[in-house]
Amino acid sequence: MCRSGVLTALCGVGVGALLLAGCPGPQPDTESPSAGAGAKGEPAPAAGGKIVLGSYMCNTGPFATFGQSSTKAMEMAVEELNAKGGVLGKPIELIVEDDQCKPEEAANAAQKLIQQDNVLCVLGEVASSNSLAAAPICQDAQTPMVTPSSTNPAVTQTGDYIFRICFTDDFQGVVMSKYAVEELKAKTAVVFSDVASDYSKGLSKVFRETFTAAGGEILGEESYNQSDRDFRAQLTKFKGLSPDVVYVPGYYGEVALILSQARQLGLKAVFLGGDGFDSPKLVEIAGKAAEGALFSNHYSKDDPNPVVQQFVASFQAKYNEAPDALAACAYDAVRIVAQAIETAGVEDRTALRDALAGITDFDGVTGKITIDENRNARKSATILTIKGGKQTFVKTMAPE
Ligand code: PHE
Repeated sequence: MCRSGVLTALCGVGVGALLLAGCPGPQPDTESPSAGAGAKGEPAPAAGGKIVLGSYMCNTGPFATFGQSSTKAMEMAVEELNAKGGVLGKPIELIVEDDQCKPEEAANAAQKLIQQDNVLCVLGEVASSNSLAAAPICQDAQTPMVTPSSTNPAVTQTGDYIFRICFTDDFQGVVMSKYAVEELKAKTAVVFSDVASDYSKGLSKVFRETFTAAGGEILGEESYNQSDRDFRAQLTKFKGLSPDVVYVPGYYGEVALILSQARQLGLKAVFLGGDGFDSPKLVEIAGKAAEGALFSNHYSKDDPNPVVQQFVASFQAKYNEAPDALAACAYDAVRIVAQAIETAGVEDRTALRDALAGITDFDGVTGKITIDENRNARKSATILTIKGGKQTFVKTMAPE
């Protein structure tokens, strides 16, 4: 799970009070719990003088910027909370596991955090397929899991201990098809999905259904695999169909290559996608080919709301980079968990679950967050476009 290279990289991030599992240096002063402690039904045992949270994230692997960005923001949130006295009068400790963007490692990491580290709550993942792999482990151990940014509807359907603080793809897919029909006046589309990703398959389905229901026509559909690097065969087929838009709800690594190859082939359609586009690497890799692409996301760093601007300024000062939506969601997730622990008033996983279910109107960086009866957040989505090599705000769309 933890690879030393990662830990070295993350330890170099400047963690302050935060502890990263396996980092060189002092180890936590928590008593090591006996094997099996914290299993199903048992309250999280007292962890000495600290509130211990665990996260599993793709800090290395094909979409590493997702995990790295989330981890930085979680660290920052923990530091800020600890500077104000922590929760329940105790400092928070965050144990970070790297799952290398692999579902089986995500499941192993969740198991380790629960059984070995006795965390009160698990935070993770970004990619829905990884959250889907770990959620049953958290549910079975009756340990709350909060995903900051996994949008596939099935994640929280795993059970009553599984929460998300972001919207679902049932909303995200509608947002983009609506935008295509109403604002771009698109009449025809093609859909390009990543078959290895539950996220991509789910978003494609929603887009297909809602675009068609709004009177649009899907001219063709193709798929690819996460490890693919040559998309020319599918893109050539798309070119022959001359669609108004191409919907490609993938992750930035493949999407960047898809955009580059599409432009080389002279495919002129507007490219649309989801939050998986959100990485500085998209423009770094695709360059000019990314211009004009549009995608739905969780926030815009240009939002003048003081909550957003305070977060952006702190993150920029600490890491010398602008926070993406992963960071914003992860920051909100830690702060929501901290508030819920405070509300629960005790260090107990079931009491925390109940408090999370009651989160209402939390003033987050990614909007006002209320957890609904299905443990999802009902929130607005933001549409961004790439302009002059930068993510640029287009509009906000509220749920109906
Ligand atoms: N929503 C994506 C998923 O569920 C992950 C993601 C979130 C990617 C936010 C980028 C930004 O797989």
